[in-house]
Amino acid sequence: MKEVTFTVLENDPVAPRTFRMKLAGDTSAICCSGEFVQVAVEGKFLRRPISVHDCDWETLTLVYKVVGEGTAALSAKRPGDKVNALTGLGNSFDIDACQGRALLLGGGVGTAPLYLLAKELVAQSKEITVILGFNTAEEVMLADRFEELGAKVYIATMDGSAGTKGFVTDVLRIKNVSYDYFYACGPKPMLKAVCAAVRGSGEVSLEERMGCGAGFCYGCSIQTKNGPRRVCKDGPVFKKEELLW
Ligand SMILES: Cc1cc2nc3c(=O)[nH]c(=O)nc-3n(C[C@H](O)[C@H](O)[C@H](O)COP(=O)(O)OP(=O)(O)OC[C@H]3O[C@@H](n4cnc5c(N)ncnc54)[C@H](O)[C@@H]3O)c2cc1C
Ligand code: FES
Repeated sequence: MKEVTFTVLENDPVAPRTFRMKLAGDTSAICCSGEFVQVAVEGKFLRRPISVHDCDWETLTLVYKVVGEGTAALSAKRPGDKVNALTGLGNSFDIDACQGRALLLGGGVGTAPLYLLAKELVAQSKEITVILGFNTAEEVMLADRFEELGAKVYIATMDGSAGTKGFVTDVLRIKNVSYDYFYACGPKPMLKAVCAAVRGSGEVSLEERMGCGAGFCYGCSIQTKNGPRRVCKDGPVFKKEELLW
């Protein structure tokens, strides 16, 4: 874990109330996709956990949705402003668990951490199918970025204004997608439905309200088949087989 003060390079909207923030600074503590950072927000005691969307030697990119005061304060940041974050938090997606064909399922802003995962899988010459779910066409984001990586991308929207009408699990049922292993991130009801619908093994990235974000306070504990686990330290990525819904 490393505390870093980053400089904002970009902070632009990518969908309604959703922003892509590119930060310059020391990313040496960030290893892999699935990890998150704890962002400090002025006037708030608790930091806000946000997944690593993309990362290289000099920049970290986050994609976040404004849902309350903390994320609203982030959205007000301008190029040149500073953002303090604890980096190198959480475990990561297991890219070696996929033998050849990966299925990535994202819901809403839960799509964000799947992008770096997709880059890592492509670097290992793995074939990727991505299914992204949103409420409306207006909310669809990042689909073009997955396509640029060579992924086959399907969209589901609740109102049918883009792609298949319904949930990501409806796309899974209708399209004949071949895969060996799946990775999912999104709202809990979506993850539960995905785990029930997929065949075979895979893993999901969970969200819980967090205190310390580093394993000390046990505020993010969940029950699993292997006993209590901390989402911030033992997760946020958990194997499907481990989870109790
Ligand atoms: C490991 C992890 C990774 C995350 N990655 C992202 C990301 O990449 N992009 C993104 O937009 N959001 C992400 N989140 C959720 C994000 O942390 C919350 O949306 C944020 O903390 C809300 O802060 P706020 O001050 O704006 O809202 P608050 O005023 O704190 O809360 C507003 C609303 O959001 C809900 N909320 C707050 N925190 C969480 C949380 N941790 N999980 C679920 N619901 C919450 C509250 O219940 C409330 O309804 C992640 C959460 C976790 C635990
Ligand atoms: S948030 Fe403190 S242990 Fe997870």
